[in-house]
Amino acid sequence: MTYTKKDLISTKDLSKDDIYSFLNLAKEYKKLNLEPVKKDPILKGVTVVNAFFENSTRTRTSFEIAGKRLGADTINFSSSTSSTNKGETLIDTINNIEAMKTDVFIVRHYSSGSAQFVAKNTPSCVINAGDGCNEHPTQALLDLLTIFESKGSFENLTVTIIGDIFHSRVARSNIYAMQTLGIKVRLFGPPMFMQNAEIFGCEICRDMDEAVRGSDAIIMLRIQLERSDGEVAFPSVREYSKYFGLTKRRLEVAKDNVIILHPGPINRGVELNSDVADDPRISSILDQVENGVAIRMAVLKTVYQNKFKA
Ligand code: CP
Repeated sequence: MTYTKKDLISTKDLSKDDIYSFLNLAKEYKKLNLEPVKKDPILKGVTVVNAFFENSTRTRTSFEIAGKRLGADTINFSSSTSSTNKGETLIDTINNIEAMKTDVFIVRHYSSGSAQFVAKNTPSCVINAGDGCNEHPTQALLDLLTIFESKGSFENLTVTIIGDIFHSRVARSNIYAMQTLGIKVRLFGPPMFMQNAEIFGCEICRDMDEAVRGSDAIIMLRIQLERSDGEVAFPSVREYSKYFGLTKRRLEVAKDNVIILHPGPINRGVELNSDVADDPRISSILDQVENGVAIRMAVLKTVYQNKFKA
């Protein structure tokens, strides 16, 4: 393993070797996760806190499973039932939990930059589980593992990310990691979700046919209304689905072996039709979820061990 930090905040911090090291370790854990006894108790005695200030199904559950499979004690902190509702600050909350001698914080928060802010204010390890529109590094790593397993290599790959690019931390973390790996990344979405998209240095597609054609993998994104300040950013769901949704018919121009990814949760019939989402020949969505546990085991083990290295 080449990664040396005690935190994982951004895929911008990952070299090509770091990414491969995480994927290789995750592949080992994926094998372990198929065993009857799914345990590598390397984190026995370690306390991992899921500090979630925003809703989650996949990330929170998979970090909890990952911690338990590594032998850690895992604690779920939920902001909705906590004293943050009485005005306690983020750092006061973290410091008070840490006073109970915890070791690792998994931070999900609605504010961009919050995971970095926590990491700077605690000696504990911090893993960014999604901070506002900013980043979601373990999602990018599990997406990369899913693509690697399907394609066998990252050489000469074109990955297209479609949808609400503007608000997407998944898009950002994937773009940074994929560019580090030399993957060609293309972007497509409605104009209101493509603001400033040129700053990423990716090719911008003009329509859905162009976005689908030539892609080895397509990452579909949900419209993130929770980050739009309640504004309706497009005229209608039906119109969005017509121009930006992925259906079997849309895939007629796709490569034969294209795979479809989606970080979840899916809005069926909006960005993705069930005829695509539920077809295991093209949909890698549940593979992503399976890979999420293995990736999070690899990240937890690595950052915790890094804390004790010079
Ligand atoms: N992909 C993802 O972050 O899903 P959750 O919001 O359910 O964790």
